Amino acid sequence: MRTLIKHILRATEPMDQVTVKGWVRTRRDAKGFSFLELNDGSCLANVQIVVDAGTPGAEHLTQLTTGAAAVVEGRLVASPAQGQKWELKASRIELVGPADQTYPLQKKGHTAEFLRTIAHLRPRSNLYGAVFRVRSRLAYAVHQFFQERDFVYVHTPIITGSDCEGAGEMFRVTTLKGNNLEEQPQTDFFGKRTYLTVSGQLEGEAFACALSNIYTFGPTFRAENSNTARHAAEFWMIEPEMAFCDLPGDMDLSEAFIKAMALFALEHCAEDLSLFTKFVDKGLQDRLKFVVERPFVRVAYTESIEILKKSGKKFDFPVEYGLNMQSEHERFLTEEHFKSPVTVFNYPKEIKPFYMRLNDDQKTVTAMDVLVPGIGEVIGGAQREERLDQLIENMKFHKLKPEEYWWYVDLRRYGSVPHAGFGLGFERLLMFLTGVSNIRDVIPFARTPGNAEF
Ligand code: 4AD
Ligand code: MG
Repeated sequence: MRTLIKHILRATEPMDQVTVKGWVRTRRDAKGFSFLELNDGSCLANVQIVVDAGTPGAEHLTQLTTGAAAVVEGRLVASPAQGQKWELKASRIELVGPADQTYPLQKKGHTAEFLRTIAHLRPRSNLYGAVFRVRSRLAYAVHQFFQERDFVYVHTPIITGSDCEGAGEMFRVTTLKGNNLEEQPQTDFFGKRTYLTVSGQLEGEAFACALSNIYTFGPTFRAENSNTARHAAEFWMIEPEMAFCDLPGDMDLSEAFIKAMALFALEHCAEDLSLFTKFVDKGLQDRLKFVVERPFVRVAYTESIEILKKSGKKFDFPVEYGLNMQSEHERFLTEEHFKSPVTVFNYPKEIKPFYMRLNDDQKTVTAMDVLVPGIGEVIGGAQREERLDQLIENMKFHKLKPEEYWWYVDLRRYGSVPHAGFGLGFERLLMFLTGVSNIRDVIPFARTPGNAEF
């Protein structure tokens, strides 16, 4: 028998024998009976339960306080109350686990900052229950999107010896102690220096150059000490990689992917999205519909720098050809100038990693970043350098040793093909789809500088 509240509330007619299991949100006592609001996380809504004083188990009613766990059997009947179709007339009620007065989640609203300090309990609140249901549904949607297009799911390693992004922002993985750490990496567990991966792309390229279209979806780690609302030290990244694909093809896939995720959320997470629209971001659903319907703007890096310069806007960080765009610049382009998601492409080679393909102008590489309102960059990708000589040139330019990337270089030796891919930060996508503005609030247990509680 189905006991999830989600299914029970969808009943089309009254039911005699119903069991629900969950946690008490509130209890109100009246003369001779009590109302319980029970929630089991299967949906946003609670089921209202009416418990008469004589009901078996009702002797424990005073212990059925907010946070307590209970099992209730009863009859599902039409509710006379406004705003709900059904209520449950209890025939038996069981206190499974009490929660005393110290239970920190009370009915009044709590701040996001406070809720982060009780990350083990916050999924029991309306907002976080909704966020993590959407997270789960979207993870499914990611797989569905790629599987329907015949992309092969590849599990790339979490422990790696190579710094894909070449930015040196990696967590070291070691069993060494003291001086050995620096002086004798060859005596370490793997016989070399190893780190937590910053991207599965390099390994993904090896598999794309065998299975044609692949994707990864897994945990990713960055030791960048940036305490912003969009950076986490541990996050989940989705990285498709396509053989026989160029930059425009890569842009097409990234656009189709974001549109598909927005459409999926609108269609399959409507109840939770309406909560976000009400309490987090009034424009959310309209914005997602807009994203689904309209093509993204595509603009070259050089042109976006011109736009930023001409904007007359005062930015905190300088705008200059050859500099990285900061979040404020990205958000100006997508939120104020174009008022649409924007794909910026062809960045100067100096500010992008070694693996990107050098354009004929010898100055720019086939990079692309997708920027969306409210977030800035959600996707970073590129067509890859498939020419052996040029890849080695690129590595030297970025002061990398080709021999340390020997297997990656090999891919250009044997049946090298044009190929392209991108990485999408799953948490940033969730921020975009829910309107929740801090990355700490869309990941169950956030890992940020100075914080690894839970
Ligand atoms: O732009 P990034 O660094 O690109 C790569 O890692 C490429 N190897 C991807 C590829 O082409 N296969 O990261 C990709 C995306 C970013 O656009 C952002 O959404 C997310 O990963 N991201 C982070 N999300 C949360 N916290 C961080 N510290 C993040 N760093 C990157
Ligand atoms: Mg990037």
